[in-house]
Amino acid sequence: MNFSLSLGSKKSMVGLDIGSSTVKAVELTSKGKHREFELSHLGISKLPAEAIVQGAFLNSGAIADAIREAIETGKIKSKHVAAAVCGHSVIVKKVSLPMMTRDELEEQIRWEAEQYIPFDVNEVNLDFQIMESAGTEGQMDVLLVAAKKDLIDDYVQVITEAGLIPATIDVASFAVENTFEANYDVRPDEVVALVYIGAQVVNINIVSEGVPAFTRDITTAGNQYTEEIQKALSISFDEAERIKLGEADSDGDKAVVPAEVDEAMRTVTDTVIGEISRSLDFFAATTADSRIERVILSGGGAKVVGFEAAFRERTGLTVETLNPLARIMPSSKLDLEMLEDVAPTLGVGIGLAMRRVEI
Ligand SMILES: Nc1ncnc2c1ncn2[C@@H]1O[C@H](COP(=O)(O)OP(=O)(O)OP(=O)(O)O)[C@@H](O)[C@H]1O
Ligand SMILES: [Mg+2]
Repeated sequence: MNFSLSLGSKKSMVGLDIGSSTVKAVELTSKGKHREFELSHLGISKLPAEAIVQGAFLNSGAIADAIREAIETGKIKSKHVAAAVCGHSVIVKKVSLPMMTRDELEEQIRWEAEQYIPFDVNEVNLDFQIMESAGTEGQMDVLLVAAKKDLIDDYVQVITEAGLIPATIDVASFAVENTFEANYDVRPDEVVALVYIGAQVVNINIVSEGVPAFTRDITTAGNQYTEEIQKALSISFDEAERIKLGEADSDGDKAVVPAEVDEAMRTVTDTVIGEISRSLDFFAATTADSRIERVILSGGGAKVVGFEAAFRERTGLTVETLNPLARIMPSSKLDLEMLEDVAPTLGVGIGLAMRRVEI
């Protein structure tokens, strides 16, 4: 599924994942006889707290700076960018429409969409995909995607300000799906829940028969851990984040981790898993004949110690953490240890970078 405001470029594309805690810039090249992907460049930069809050760009100057820094650290030369949006300004809906050709739908999509989206149709960018699944007699299933123009404009603005060219805007959870499908064998009839846990948002995408059957974004994510630690110890957000990640402070001392921290971590893990399970249960209750078989976790939040096991225990499902580099060789110039550490957070960025690399 490629939801695109495509400004059309066949050039190699930078996958630019503008996360609320870090910006990831990813470049893939296709190599060899079989045109396998190689991860040729990767740059990651930190965003100051509060630059992005609940999907809103509150400090576009700082975001543009972070994008530039990610591009520079990654030594990325291409200018064309694929980025991804998510959150409440993005609507993904499967709808049943009268059978028509793609061209006819192209013409009618605005009118059709009006009934299905909670926004003024003139305020959104629209895209659709006609699905192969057989609809009822004379009908066809269409996956409709709408994103508020305001949100797209924010992305276009920061990308342009960073000296790059916005070429494609995708949906974050579709990008994760892309990464997953490129790296794993998936049975055509298999139902897989892809769960990306970032700092501010959890993107859920339940994929059935190769297409998104259910998507939902939740706003209890990685930052929740930090906030609970902050409250429990009455310290700053940055200090709490450092403790959470087990990082050393400016004097090089590793923080002594008080018992309250483990307790806070466990409580938030319970809450986050509870929220995600509610969505998985909702899908199960409303979708006949579909049973989720596997849950694939990604995002920095999936690295919380014990999270994967707690998820497995709570749901009884097969739960694993996405390896976005299972079938993508990193360039020999990249630091393998660093890559292993950040791999789960590349779920969106790798999928975006694949948008233009022709196989
Ligand atoms: N080892 C770890 N243990 C616990 N949490 C971690 C670990 N590594 C990263 N995180 C957390 O993961 C989050 C960052 O993940 P990621 O880079 O996927 O998010 P983001 O893309 O910046 O944010 P979002 O997608 O929500 O806008 C942060 O909350 C960070 O503290
Ligand atoms: Mg993210």
